[in-house]
Amino acid sequence: MKTLISASILNADFTDLGKQIQTAEKAGVDWLHLDIMDGHFVPNISFGPHIASLCRKMTSLPIDTHLMISNPDQFIEAFSEAGSNYISVHIEGNPHIHRTLQIIHKMNRKAGIVVNPGTPIQSIYSVLPIVDFVLIMTVNPGFGGQSFIPETLEKIRDLSAKIENEHLDVMIEVDGGITNETLPLVKNAGANILVVGSFIFNNPDGIEQAVKTLKG
Ligand code: DX5
Ligand code: ZN
Repeated sequence: MKTLISASILNADFTDLGKQIQTAEKAGVDWLHLDIMDGHFVPNISFGPHIASLCRKMTSLPIDTHLMISNPDQFIEAFSEAGSNYISVHIEGNPHIHRTLQIIHKMNRKAGIVVNPGTPIQSIYSVLPIVDFVLIMTVNPGFGGQSFIPETLEKIRDLSAKIENEHLDVMIEVDGGITNETLPLVKNAGANILVVGSFIFNNPDGIEQAVKTLKG
């Protein structure tokens, strides 16, 4: 499977968002990653469906929406209508996660389950047959620009082995602290989709060069 780069705009320059997205698209990123935070599920607030729909107008890339919000069921329709192709929800604090994933599929969107660094990977195994991808957080969610947590590599390896043994059609996405240095580690562990935020949008060498470095 080809390794995909999903560019997270969380730390992009929002005064020039359209241009930043288009530069990343031209440079060759594969997906656009939207981090939705409500100040409750995580200690930060980002943006909502309105900005997501503006992003939809600015790019033809698949949009990968990562919901870090309490009661995600309430917002799945809005983000789906805003143009998300992939929608992921956390296992933590959701007693009806199976239903939440069904709602995403009912909207005809690809569904992902997310696990925080402190959550065992086995906790998502019961919903593995009904997801299109698993997002393994490689930092604690809430902020861009944090350092990669190396203990998460074992989870990627365990999940990758399980998917292979059971011949499941599930992709593995990783999110947080991915740079040119951590990229080979997660890739070798079995990750297929790499979310990259600050390494692309806050790179002193610029967006284009950053993507080139990652792809090279
Ligand atoms: C963290 C977000 C990530 C983050 C990635 O809560 O889910 O998508 O913005 O940014 P970097 O690549 O800077 O860790
Ligand atoms: Zn994210």
